[in-house]
Amino acid sequence: MLLLILLWFMGLESQGEIKKARRVFDEMIGEGVLPSVATYNALIQVLCKKDSVENAILVFEEMVRKGYVPNSTTYVVVIRGLCHAEKMEKAMEFLGRMKDDECEPNVQTYNVVIRYFCDAGDIEKGLDVFEKMSGGDCLPNLDTYNILISAMFVRKKSDDLLVAGKLLIEMVDRGFLPRKFTFNRVLNGLLLTGNQGFAKEILRLQSRCGHLPRHFKL
Ligand SMILES: *[C@@H]1O[C@H](CO)[C@@H](O)[C@H](O)[C@H]1NC(C)=O
Repeated sequence: MLLLILLWFMGLESQGEIKKARRVFDEMIGEGVLPSVATYNALIQVLCKKDSVENAILVFEEMVRKGYVPNSTTYVVVIRGLCHAEKMEKAMEFLGRMKDDECEPNVQTYNVVIRYFCDAGDIEKGLDVFEKMSGGDCLPNLDTYNILISAMFVRKKSDDLLVAGKLLIEMVDRGFLPRKFTFNRVLNGLLLTGNQGFAKEILRLQSRCGHLPRHFKL
């Protein structure tokens, strides 16, 4: 029943209707219909999408107060909502809470945060989160590397291209096969920023990975 109300919620657009649906939801709970973690997760998701992340967090706190234990789905929804609302500090706070709750953030959660930091131009913070995750138990995946490497082209700084090259080497060391596009992009970037020596190293790496560009002169 609560999930039906949530479905109704999903289709609503006006703030008035959303308030009304929320009231019905709360009334049902008041009358003794017990929500589950799944219902709370769905409500939090709907509030993030249709209402505000602040209200979603109120529900999160209410859920905790009532003795429910948020799981990683709950956290990811809240963290995504916070990132989307550009509340990155709060998102980091929830990332920390997630760990305290013995709900080790997974790679998808880290990727959401890293992506938002990079999109906001806060590349250092994105790299910090990456360091933290690599230093912990969570290994980056192909998406993590692609997000970060792409971010290294935004500022057109020579140092950023060096970082891109290092990330590329690290990802190959970890057994990921970068796309040819990624190799070529990093290679061109390094050449354009005067990093010929490092470009040669990347070219050797590329040939080991079996995608040597056909016409490449250094
Ligand atoms: C979190 O809990 C909900 C409800 O029990 C469940 O549907 C969901 O799969 C859980 N998420 C994870 C990552 O275990």
